[in-house]
Amino acid sequence: MTSSNDKGAQQASGRPSRGAIKAVRGTRDLLPDETPLWNRVEAVARAVFARYGFGEIRTPVFEATELFARGVGEETDIVSKEMFTWEDRARAASEKAQSLTLRPESTAGVVRAYIEHKMGETGALQKLYYIGPQFRRERPQRGRYRQFWQIGAEVIGPTSSGAESPVRDAEVLEMLSTLLDELGVRGWRLELNSVGNAEDRALYNMALREALAPVKDKLCPDNQRRAETNPLRVLDSKDEQDQEIINGLPKIADYLSEESREHFAQVRAALDACGVDYHVNPRLVRGLDYYTRTTFEFTVQTGLGTQNALLGGGRYDGLSEMLGGPKAPGIGFAIGEDRLILVLQEQAKQDAEAAGAAPGEPKLDGYVAPLGAAQNAPALALARALRREGLSVEVGDGAFKLRKSFDIADKVARAIVLLGEDEVASGVMTVKMFATGEQVKVPRAELGGRLRAR
Ligand code: HAM
Repeated sequence: MTSSNDKGAQQASGRPSRGAIKAVRGTRDLLPDETPLWNRVEAVARAVFARYGFGEIRTPVFEATELFARGVGEETDIVSKEMFTWEDRARAASEKAQSLTLRPESTAGVVRAYIEHKMGETGALQKLYYIGPQFRRERPQRGRYRQFWQIGAEVIGPTSSGAESPVRDAEVLEMLSTLLDELGVRGWRLELNSVGNAEDRALYNMALREALAPVKDKLCPDNQRRAETNPLRVLDSKDEQDQEIINGLPKIADYLSEESREHFAQVRAALDACGVDYHVNPRLVRGLDYYTRTTFEFTVQTGLGTQNALLGGGRYDGLSEMLGGPKAPGIGFAIGEDRLILVLQEQAKQDAEAAGAAPGEPKLDGYVAPLGAAQNAPALALARALRREGLSVEVGDGAFKLRKSFDIADKVARAIVLLGEDEVASGVMTVKMFATGEQVKVPRAELGGRLRAR
């Protein structure tokens, strides 16, 4: 017996057989039984974004490495350990060798595009959304992948467009609550914080550095380094043993300027007015360096285990300047689409269990079964006509026995249309509706209406 990885084995073609190639660790295929839910989620998101005046932006999947180093921050986990980066060789005299990176997030790319296309010069507030894959070399587990999808949005513009107003923050958060409700996500929780402006952050970083100095030796090596270079990052460390020290560190709320405090109070007041629930979490500093003032995450308990952050975001008032652009305050978020899907699947399973039924699969309107090989061509022609009428239809094969056609049809469609010599001659089809078991003769002209009826 030869195994597929038997080096000596020869295939019929004469070439040595090799092991089957698998998807790369942390990446997945989304198969047709899953993609309808992905498409529904994206359609609902697009519809909600349209109602709030957002337009779609599509930026490249790879960018100059420097964009993320400057935008997201050298000391963040994302930039220091998780990026897929390569040195791109020059292939022509007109090209330069450069370091490129698969985007680990999209905010930096969107702000780069905002600067590059001088979108601020219109004077108008820009409301942009995106849906697409992101790449981070993380340890894969349920809800955490190396290629994952985000549905995100950014609101950015010159100060005169009102981009800095707390109303914008509250509107983005209120929109998210509407989107999650319309998607049917239950039990979400909004965690909210303010990390202050650049000066508040500098003061707070100093206080953290001071508080960390005497206990530094007790921290894990990563946190020891961060305590020196970027102490704020110690706060989002997941190291178990360091949590006690982290819990005792000063809180950002005590270092906010009057202005930042007031901005945050107005965000909360607007959320209160809209009836959107939130929980202030003073530890929520987020893992990216560009954040200023409002930061937030939406969490859910169902279906995600430890990866319970469904989405995250916040304000980034200095990011455009960090990337060489004009002053352009902004706020945005990104939903982890893979996680959103896991939550919806888990909730659908719970609902089905409570109702004592298996989660229903969408079925086609009809299955056209040719009775004998001679009916294959007329069956395909009938299916073509029905599909052009907007119906979803599958066609069988005249070589199948009647029993087999019925078995397949019952699995994939709500009705079977039998097409024998008589039916083709008379133009009257035999149709069986599976839900009721009813079998009827239907003239061709009425077939579409009959299959459509539920
Ligand atoms: P983030 O918190 O890094 O923020 O990612 C946002 C969401 O993406 C997370 O809450 C999570 O649901 C999902 N996510 C992150 N990493 C993974 C992964 N490895 N596998 C699956 N899902 C993942 C950002 O990316 C910011 N750009 C958000 C933003 C937009 N802030 C302002 N504007």
